[in-house]
Amino acid sequence: MLKLSKLTTAVALVMAGAGMGASVSAIAGEVEVLHFWTSGGEAKSVAELKRIMQAKGHVWKDFAVAGGGGDNAATVLKSRVVSGNPPAAAQIKGPAIQEWAYEGVLANLDSVAKAENWDALLPKVVADVMKYKGTYVAVPVNVHRVNWMWANAAVLKKAGVTGMPKTWDEFFVAADKVKKAGLIAVAHGGQNWQDFTTFESVVLGVGGTKFYNDALVKLDQKALNSDTMKKSLETLRKVKSYTDAASPGRDWNLATAMVMQEKAAFQFMGDWAKGEFLAAGKVPGKDFLCAAAPGTANAFTFNVDSFAMFKLKNTENQKAQGDLAATIMGTEFQEVFNLNKGSIPVRLNMNMAKFDDCAKLSAKDFVETAKTGGLVPSIAHNMAIRSSTEGAIKDAVSQFWNDDKISIADGVKNIAKAATTK
Ligand code: BGC
Repeated sequence: MLKLSKLTTAVALVMAGAGMGASVSAIAGEVEVLHFWTSGGEAKSVAELKRIMQAKGHVWKDFAVAGGGGDNAATVLKSRVVSGNPPAAAQIKGPAIQEWAYEGVLANLDSVAKAENWDALLPKVVADVMKYKGTYVAVPVNVHRVNWMWANAAVLKKAGVTGMPKTWDEFFVAADKVKKAGLIAVAHGGQNWQDFTTFESVVLGVGGTKFYNDALVKLDQKALNSDTMKKSLETLRKVKSYTDAASPGRDWNLATAMVMQEKAAFQFMGDWAKGEFLAAGKVPGKDFLCAAAPGTANAFTFNVDSFAMFKLKNTENQKAQGDLAATIMGTEFQEVFNLNKGSIPVRLNMNMAKFDDCAKLSAKDFVETAKTGGLVPSIAHNMAIRSSTEGAIKDAVSQFWNDDKISIADGVKNIAKAATTK
């Protein structure tokens, strides 16, 4: 759990340093929305939510905290809640929704959910994550798929790579060709959440969905210490050898830009990368290609962006908050937002006519993998396990990624140990 009380002192210090202690003026019908959507494609997407809310007469107070993956936003959110001044809505995902609800700070959205019939409009696996003890406390925005591989079509052509590699062996053959052509094979941003994103796709591709579930969702020690995990780390280290020396610290969207600008061939990233390609005017299937990461075509690592709503005192703002929740689940927003964001609508039975082939493949695979058991929660994007354990595993993976002197055996051991963190 978040142990808010213990955080108070540290947070007070952070806030004093950042000059964030001032109270927010209460404007009638204002929604303050904390999010981390600051890249080109992301900003375009969230602007649609702002537009619809403003059209409904509400005041939009943007609370953007830069930092891919949302770690910075999570830290700032804690400080605001501890000081008794939460935003109306904050981008929170997966088990963290339960952790916040347990603290008693989230609003009850059941009246909106009942009026709008959310139970019938959402896949049950998603609705359950949005509820705490049977009550809706958060509203889902989309479904992102994490196990994607993106590529620049012109670079592949130049390197003599025909078709997207389907297995890791095929991938390394393609990567060698790209290298030979004098280009970067893998565009990577060396930040811990990006290392972790690549790791989860590699584990899924090497071990399959049962192994992924055992190791990264159930945190089974036998799976974590197995030869399959060894093989996964060997593969991960090999992937890293195809990244460029300037990757440490790079933002994910700059890695996507390297693919766009024909400097690099591939990127392993969720489909928010597609939002970047689209925002830059690139055409799917022509300028850039999408395929499941090698070995993962029958699986789908899901990442559902959602907004948890916080208890507010002002009644006008409470009303605006309810409107925000209804808007997010509405068909207008679900379509326009997801067209920009690279994700697919979370609301069931949406018309997909305007969506591109990558989104259509995602929608088809979402439904199919849900039937076959190939649908698994993304650990790197906060969907699978509690945040403290996730953070420990993420650190162990990043240490391994960044230090080639750590042996495979030690890498396996460190990750397995991190998985015991409570
Ligand atoms: C979020 C996406 C976001 C990405 C990069 C993911 O965890 O789900 O909405 O675009 O991080 O910041």
